[in-house]
Amino acid sequence: MSLQVDGLRVRYRTLRGDVHALDGVTFEVADGEIMGLVGESGCGKTTLAKSLIRLDGRMQYVDGVVELDGVKLPIDDQHAMNRFRFTQISFVPQYAMSALNPIRKIGKMIAELLESRGFDYKSIQPELERRLDLVGLPRDVLRRYPIELSGGMKQRTVVVVSTLLDPSLLVADEATSALDVSNQKAVAETLVEFRDRRFVRSVIVVTHDISLGYQIADTIMVMYAGKQAEKAPAEVIVNSPRHPYTQALMSSLPEVGVRYEDRRLAGIPGSPPPLLNPPSGCRFRDRCPLAFDQCAEEPPFVEIATGHSVACWKAA
Ligand SMILES: Nc1ncnc2c1ncn2[C@@H]1O[C@H](COP(=O)(O)OP(=O)(O)O)[C@@H](O)[C@H]1O
Ligand code: SF4
Ligand SMILES: [Mg+2]
Repeated sequence: MSLQVDGLRVRYRTLRGDVHALDGVTFEVADGEIMGLVGESGCGKTTLAKSLIRLDGRMQYVDGVVELDGVKLPIDDQHAMNRFRFTQISFVPQYAMSALNPIRKIGKMIAELLESRGFDYKSIQPELERRLDLVGLPRDVLRRYPIELSGGMKQRTVVVVSTLLDPSLLVADEATSALDVSNQKAVAETLVEFRDRRFVRSVIVVTHDISLGYQIADTIMVMYAGKQAEKAPAEVIVNSPRHPYTQALMSSLPEVGVRYEDRRLAGIPGSPPPLLNPPSGCRFRDRCPLAFDQCAEEPPFVEIATGHSVACWKAA
């Protein structure tokens, strides 16, 4: 077992009150599993991804336990988390490379990163070069500035760097969203290849693009309004989903490269509820074609078949 998350709750403090961005999320990502994380904008994907690694200043940890390979992560203690970041758990944000120092050559940045963690760049460089070769990147990217790389090359470089120390878990948040289809494919293939070679043992891929998620993910977890709706093997989510929200997402499944987020859910009016004061009961209730009395109570997220969990009274 690689990652185990139990009852995770994270809020944002705002002047208007607390935003319940992640409201009790429980799941596992097994050794060797690539899990796609999907759901409409604002459902809590980025909050979940970040809370496993680095809470930003406005995020408030409320409750829950995160274990990686049986070790409890101190996610509410950002200083203590330093010991795990990059060595055991790595994060690739959407615009990873644009956030980096434009006047540092890439090789120098990597050297600084490694040295800040007590590793010797020179002894790791041969493996770094081998991995660049493997993903079809020229070794001289190390002598270039970020601006000299295309978006696709940058994201592949970031994946190579973030997995350089063979972490247990890589979390990629929309790592391919800003890229064109062929570059998306190259980054996605890099993730799969690195998992196959065990440079990283498990991967969480946050994506707007279910078709892309389906191509690379073993399992898909669907979120709705800060909660889990469904998690199952990717082909079950795509071909025989049980949660009405997943069914609505799948019936509007677009071609590869098109973001479902930009589309309205087919046949389902309305939008997700606000997370400032989330409604009680099932959060999909006011949009759900199957809603009935019991939905005023919150449905538990339960396993209905091996590896298939759903939070819906009608699916249990
Ligand atoms: N810094 C913040 N302050 C207040 N609310 C936030 C902040 N960041 C995100 N949120 C809210 O938290 C919820 C989840 O957001 P997020 O995790 O970014 O969703 P996603 O990545 O699925 O689009 C949304 O309601 C969003 O408006
Ligand atoms: S619990 Fe009720 S409202 Fe929620 S998805 Fe299921 S049927 Fe719809
Ligand atoms: Mg996001």
